[in-house]
Amino acid sequence: MSMPVPIRLNLRMRLRHALPLMALAFGMGLLSLPAAALAEPLKIRFAHVVAQDTPKGLAVERFKTLVAERSGGRMVVEVYAGSSVYGDLDEMQALQAGAVEMLAPSLSKFGRVGFPEFELFDLPYLFDTLQDVHRITDGPLGARLLKSLERQGMVGLGFLDNGFKHMSANRPLLRPADFSGLRMRVQTSRVIAAQMRALGAVPVQLPFGATRQALARQVVQGTENPLSNFWTQGMHRVQSDLTLTGHAYLGYAVVTGQRFWRSLSPGDQRLLREALNDALRYGNQIADSQNSKALVSLRQAGTTAVHEPSAAQRQLLRDTVQTVHQQLGQRIGPQWIQDAHAALHRP
Ligand code: SIN
Repeated sequence: MSMPVPIRLNLRMRLRHALPLMALAFGMGLLSLPAAALAEPLKIRFAHVVAQDTPKGLAVERFKTLVAERSGGRMVVEVYAGSSVYGDLDEMQALQAGAVEMLAPSLSKFGRVGFPEFELFDLPYLFDTLQDVHRITDGPLGARLLKSLERQGMVGLGFLDNGFKHMSANRPLLRPADFSGLRMRVQTSRVIAAQMRALGAVPVQLPFGATRQALARQVVQGTENPLSNFWTQGMHRVQSDLTLTGHAYLGYAVVTGQRFWRSLSPGDQRLLREALNDALRYGNQIADSQNSKALVSLRQAGTTAVHEPSAAQRQLLRDTVQTVHQQLGQRIGPQWIQDAHAALHRP
């Protein structure tokens, strides 16, 4: 005697029966769904070390929005901000291992991984304005620098400004004598280390994410950064004095890994490039105002005295670090320096 077939199946049973039938129907081409409904969105993990309310943080957020809009949700940028997942010490390895797809390290951090030519951006007083910087980053020299990153399996996608750096400590830093013996936190650039030594300070390389705490604990006594980084890292709570030296530039290169990039269709590469270019243009537009806003907030907070060097003090600081250009010329590469001077229309 055969068992009666139940008339009503519960949901689980209905699915169990329905799914193989649907799969068969898709396989036979009898049913179709838009590909986007079936495929997982492509995740692009973008790591950086700064706060969101900075030129880089805001440009990366803009990129994320543009990619989501323009790909109709097919691509998703997941942002790991503020050294939350990868920091200065491991983000480049993470990119090479395929643990993240995009980074925007400061230009000063490429020397350590085999690109000393990027340290030309760290030369003190090389640039007077951001327009000067753009003569390099927007021209053939910038394109060559990005292309050179292929040596290590990276694809250089573009440059982004932060701005000019200023010196901070628990005393004003108006003259070279003020730097004497001070332990100053620096990025991994040899040019920046040489600049601090020329001023009489002791450079101490530390990751950006560890800097505020190192200042609080007096492991280091001072540092240099653009105002937006100084403010958003809360350095004004651990540094009593900021001197507006504007002695050198800080900017970024946005990079991805060749393996990831080549896995994309030409259409997706174009979409990402265009979204990134728009985001970088936006970042460059707001960089100046973000730094000015940070200065206003800093003055309002009232925890840090802000000092302006006089013209004579500026000149002395400038003359003191000029030796770095010669000292580090061989490391950066004389041809790169010559080309940079040509782009800047300097003798
Ligand atoms: C950054 O702006 O990405 C960090 C700069 C620094 O390490 O000082």
